[in-house]
Amino acid sequence: TSVTVHAPGTVANLVCGFDILGLCLHEPYDIMDVKLLPEKEIVIHSADGYPLPSDPKDNTAGAPLIEMLAELEDNIGFEVTIHKRIKPGSGVGSSAASAAGAVVAANHLLGNRFSKEQLVQFAMFGEKVASGVKHADNIAPCIYGGVTLIRSIHPLDIIALQPPDLHVTIVHPQIEVKTADARAILKQKILLKDAIRQWGNIAGLVAGIVQQDNALIGRSLEDVLIEPVRSILIPGFDEVKQRSKEAGALGGGISGSGPSIFMLSADKATAQNVEKTMQEVFTRVGIAYHTHVTQI
Ligand code: HSE
Repeated sequence: TSVTVHAPGTVANLVCGFDILGLCLHEPYDIMDVKLLPEKEIVIHSADGYPLPSDPKDNTAGAPLIEMLAELEDNIGFEVTIHKRIKPGSGVGSSAASAAGAVVAANHLLGNRFSKEQLVQFAMFGEKVASGVKHADNIAPCIYGGVTLIRSIHPLDIIALQPPDLHVTIVHPQIEVKTADARAILKQKILLKDAIRQWGNIAGLVAGIVQQDNALIGRSLEDVLIEPVRSILIPGFDEVKQRSKEAGALGGGISGSGPSIFMLSADKATAQNVEKTMQEVFTRVGIAYHTHVTQI
């Protein structure tokens, strides 16, 4: 009657795929213990003293479980203990991990009554709590693994893609970028010529993933719409990107709405060289940072 799950971090916005493409990381992950209760109630605890909202309706794990319980006749509830390992606000899907981990664990305790797609629907209520917007580009890869394409949110249409074994280098500069601000500065109108370039890249990226063609993936990791606007919020961004590519990375961009930057590499040695490059840039820029290398 209890289960422990690892809810991994995710990178949403696979560069050109703003709001539609995301990938699942091996690390970091939240650890979540979920226990079945004999009454219709939800109890949330934060392990390690990390300050998380304890009222379930304000908690990114609690809100999805409220939605799930509303679908059930059973007189049951859930007690959730969250070991927060993914730093909130870092841009690697911290809120999505709590939301996705809670519903996956609860569904397991219920004998898997709900489909993955239904779990995404529930978990999106956690994103609403966190950022005011119900989006699935972090939740879907957290639940499905690999790379996911959200073709549509209304109605929900998720396509799970199996990417090649790529290595991911992430740098988290210690500056604050609020998702709401990073969305507010985006242009609401775009030029047709830019749209054509963007959808060429998105199609190329999806084709590259499906065909396991790293060169095509690298060529397609270009965002002409969102990145030029958002990257001004991250000092050192252009230099990290350029030098990471010189170090052999296929490409990369802003993780989520920032401030983290991620780069994809075909092998671990390259990913580690990219990590050194990122460290050099942020040391020189004078912003404290944290880096790590993981895999999709
Ligand atoms: N797709 C979202 C954005 C992810 O870039 O605004 C951040 O939560």
